[in-house]
Amino acid sequence: MKIFLDTANLDEIRKYNDMGLLDGITTNPSLLAKEGGDPHEAMEEITRIIKGDVSLEVVSTDYDGMMKEGKKLREYGDHVVVKCPMTGEGLRACKSLSEQGIPVNVTLVFSPNQALLAAKAGAKYVSPFIGRLDDIGHTGMDLIKEIKQIFTNYNFNTQILVASVRHPQHVIDAAKTGADVVTLPPAVLGKMLGHALTDKGLKAFLADWEKLQADNSNKT
Ligand code: G3P
Repeated sequence: MKIFLDTANLDEIRKYNDMGLLDGITTNPSLLAKEGGDPHEAMEEITRIIKGDVSLEVVSTDYDGMMKEGKKLREYGDHVVVKCPMTGEGLRACKSLSEQGIPVNVTLVFSPNQALLAAKAGAKYVSPFIGRLDDIGHTGMDLIKEIKQIFTNYNFNTQILVASVRHPQHVIDAAKTGADVVTLPPAVLGKMLGHALTDKGLKAFLADWEKLQADNSNKT
């Protein structure tokens, strides 16, 4: 399963990229707004740091606008994936951009039928938002299971990109379901990395080493 980071924070992107953990990045207008500054500069810098797929989202809602923006975003690099919303106009743009060799990530997917239609329109990725479904009392992971079954039944090449991930258990469940990608807020990736027993074990190793050094220096 590929791991993308779901952020526009350049420090977090550099940090986890330096550990070799990142297969790509997803951004959206809200994540860019959270960081402030010039969003175009930020998007360009992200595409410089990351060599894997970088999803950059259009803000137009009409077909012509999305096509124009999508082509402009793609100028940042051949690894840019244009994120289009799950609307009729978005799917029309998805079809055209995909036919022109520009990969598309269809975002804001909340049902198996929406994922099916995005795949039919040629999307490289569909982004089901599982956390937001959990928030309204559904089980977001059930959506991933249903999409996986549908895509497997009909051999769709479209990849399932699990989005709106809230905690490490979502990642384990996504991996067990066979999702292609999870996109993670930096805080979730940080939680996956750490464990209290790792910290405790390391502290003990270092204390024992210090004791050994002290014992040896007392002998000399
Ligand atoms: O990439 C967008 C998606 O991950 C949004 O997550 O936390 O705003 O529901 P969230």
